Amino acid sequence: MKTVTVNVVSGSYDIIIGPGLLTQTGDRLKAFGFSDKVVIITDTTVRKLYGSTLEQILIASGFEVATLSGADSEEEKSLETAGRLYLELTGFHAERGTPVLALGGGVTGDLAGFVAATYQRGVPLIQIPTTLLAQADSSLGGKTAVNHGQLKNRIGAFYQPSLTISDIDTLKSLSQRQLADGLAEIIKHGAIQDADFFEYLENNIDRIMALDDDALETTVARSAEIKAAVVEQDELDLGLRNILNYGHTIGHAVETVSDFQIDHGRAVAFGMLVAARISNRMGLLDRSDVTRLKKLLTKVGLLAEVPKLETDKLIEAMHHDKKIVEGRIKFVLLESIGEVIFTDDVDLELVKKVLPEKL
Ligand SMILES: NC(=O)c1ccc[n+]([C@@H]2O[C@H](COP(=O)([O-])OP(=O)(O)OC[C@H]3O[C@@H](n4cnc5c(N)ncnc54)[C@H](O)[C@@H]3O)[C@@H](O)[C@H]2O)c1
Ligand SMILES: [Zn+2]
Repeated sequence: MKTVTVNVVSGSYDIIIGPGLLTQTGDRLKAFGFSDKVVIITDTTVRKLYGSTLEQILIASGFEVATLSGADSEEEKSLETAGRLYLELTGFHAERGTPVLALGGGVTGDLAGFVAATYQRGVPLIQIPTTLLAQADSSLGGKTAVNHGQLKNRIGAFYQPSLTISDIDTLKSLSQRQLADGLAEIIKHGAIQDADFFEYLENNIDRIMALDDDALETTVARSAEIKAAVVEQDELDLGLRNILNYGHTIGHAVETVSDFQIDHGRAVAFGMLVAARISNRMGLLDRSDVTRLKKLLTKVGLLAEVPKLETDKLIEAMHHDKKIVEGRIKFVLLESIGEVIFTDDVDLELVKKVLPEKL
């Protein structure tokens, strides 16, 4: 088991990472001083896989448990669902001290986190992420959110959990595609901040994809450490956190133009490769580093179905996203594997040239 401690202005908390942790949840909650009621918020799939087990574990530890249905899709990660959950929490007589357990992927973490942040002006939140993306990235950083109409992730709160339990055994029911989605952000963390970790990923990617315990634990823990270090310096996303958007300027445009048919991990992988090529053309990044990034993303399968999307449409989407100002684009670029710079001064013409290049 590994522990990553996150020190944020609003307090510090632990992320524990390892196999078999779900069974310890009752004891860990008691150690926190919780004793009476707990609420689990989860989705239909995760409820079947782990929800009932967790409920039984908590009942055996003496808790009164309510398991509430969260969101089964991005569409259901909404204010309406949050509204329903507030009423269900009230029906269960959840009080200011009643912890909410977010059991599931990033959708559940965002929604249950938002509900915990706002119900009774804030109740304790325990994150129990069950996707690789959620364990390595989304459960960390305190951003909670729901969607509302066209406002994607725009209604939310910064709200840190009291504890995060990342049981790597839960990752074993994920598909290779879901794993790859999480690996896109993990590779991003290595690329922007940690050359040694990037090399570790290059050497161990087969073990990770084969769900080897040791490799998963190391990968989740290192990825969490990297994000935690960035978040600790910029909890409210006022500057440094920008570097976590590496690959996302183009990634978001790819998602929009493909009408969200290309999933986030693949869109970001494409965005990272294009940003690396731009970095190379601007004389910042060695060509061999572009090749390493491409090789790793290819091995994970993230570049396999990359889109033939029209350059003009991608540029238009970036305009719309306010990423382009007077022919210059805001970009996170690589200086080497492990080092980034943030600039708002990339020439639009260069981006137009690099975008359609063969992968
Ligand atoms: N708050 C943040 O900082 C942040 C960062 C990145 C992404 N996000 C959000 O995260 C969400 C995406 O997260 P996600 O990819 O985890 O999506 P998700 O929660 O929808 O999970 C993906 C799918 O995997 C299933 N699933 C979850 N755990 C499983 C398991 N152990 N075994 C089998 N299936 C399992 C879910 O039921 C779902 O169908 C988006 O809503 C995005 O906006 C938030
Ligand atoms: Zn992302």
